[in-house]
Amino acid sequence: MRGAELWTAITELKHRKGALILAHNYQLPEVQQIADVVGDSLALAQAAARSSAELIVFCGVHFMAETAAILCPEKRVLLPDLEAGCSLAESITAEQLREWKAQHPNAVVVAYINTSAAVKAESDWICTSANARKVIEAIPSDQEILFVPDMFLGAWLRAQTGRPIRLWMGECHVHAAMHPEDVQAALAEHPEAEFLIHPECGCMSSTLYACSAGTINGHKVTVASTDGMLRYVRSSAAEEFVIGTEVGLLYRLQQENPHKRFYALKPDAVCPYMKRITLDKVLRSLEEEIYRVTVPEEIAHRARRALQRMLALG
Ligand code: 13P
Ligand code: SF4
Repeated sequence: MRGAELWTAITELKHRKGALILAHNYQLPEVQQIADVVGDSLALAQAAARSSAELIVFCGVHFMAETAAILCPEKRVLLPDLEAGCSLAESITAEQLREWKAQHPNAVVVAYINTSAAVKAESDWICTSANARKVIEAIPSDQEILFVPDMFLGAWLRAQTGRPIRLWMGECHVHAAMHPEDVQAALAEHPEAEFLIHPECGCMSSTLYACSAGTINGHKVTVASTDGMLRYVRSSAAEEFVIGTEVGLLYRLQQENPHKRFYALKPDAVCPYMKRITLDKVLRSLEEEIYRVTVPEEIAHRARRALQRMLALG
C-alpha cells in the first residue's frame, strides 16, 4: 500500500476500533502525522493514563508501551514491533538493582522512565528528563539517592541539586555518542545559534559547568527534554538552534516553527529502535491487535506506585 492509502486505512480502523495512537517525538514523520498525541516520555505516559480509549497503539519503544500497560491495566496496549527496544533500558536489570540496593539499604531509588517494568518495581520514584529535577527535590535533602540507569542525566542532577546521588553507569548509545568536539564544531559552524541539549547526551559531563552556567562560547545553552525543547523554541526570540538530541525531533521543531532554522548537533544521531515503527506495522498492529504488551500484576502494582508518585507531582 502507498502512503496515502495506508493513512486512510489506519485512520478508518483507528476510528472503528476507538483506538488511541501515541507517538514519541523521535518517530518517523509519517508516524507522527498519524498519531493522536505526539510527545516526550512524560506527556505520553500522562496521555495514556487519562485516555478513555480501550486500545492504545504505542509508536515508541518497549519500555514506553510497558509504562502505559502498568498505568492502564484495563486497556490493551500494542507495540507495532517488539524489536523496538532501548539500549539505555537494557543497561540495568532488576537483579543488578537489587544487589546495588543491598549495598545501600537506606538509599531511595530514583529510576529514569527508560527502564524495564521489573526495574521500576524495585524503585521508589520514576522520573523523566522533563521532571527529574522536580522528583529529586521532592526527596528529603539529606537522603542518599541511587539513580539508575543514565549516568549523564544523573551527573547533571547531582550538579544541579548538590544532592548525594550515586550513579549507575548506564547510557543511551545514541546520546552517549555526542561528544564535546561535536558541540564545538556545530557551534562554530552556526555562530548565531542557541544550543539545546538533552540531559542524556555524552557531551553533558564535560560541558556540565558550561551548561549550568547557561553559555558555551557565547551561545545560550538550555538543557531540556524533547517536549521541553519544543516549548523553549516556541517562546524564544532566537531564530537558529543547534539541537543536541536524536534527529527525529527536528521534524516537529521545523513543522511548528517554519521560519526558524534547526541544525542537528550530530546528523547521524538516529535511534534504530524508534525507527522500527513504520506505517505498515501500525496498520498491521491495528488489524491483528499485535503485539500486546502486558506486565504481570505482582510487578505492575509495585511499578505503578513509583510511577504514580511521579505523576502526582504534575
Ligand atoms: P524524552 O522525550 O522524554 O526527553 O526522552 C528521550 C528519550 O531518549 C526517550 O527514549
Ligand atoms: Fe533508548 Fe536512546 Fe533510543 Fe531513547 S534514543 S529509545 S534512550 S536508545
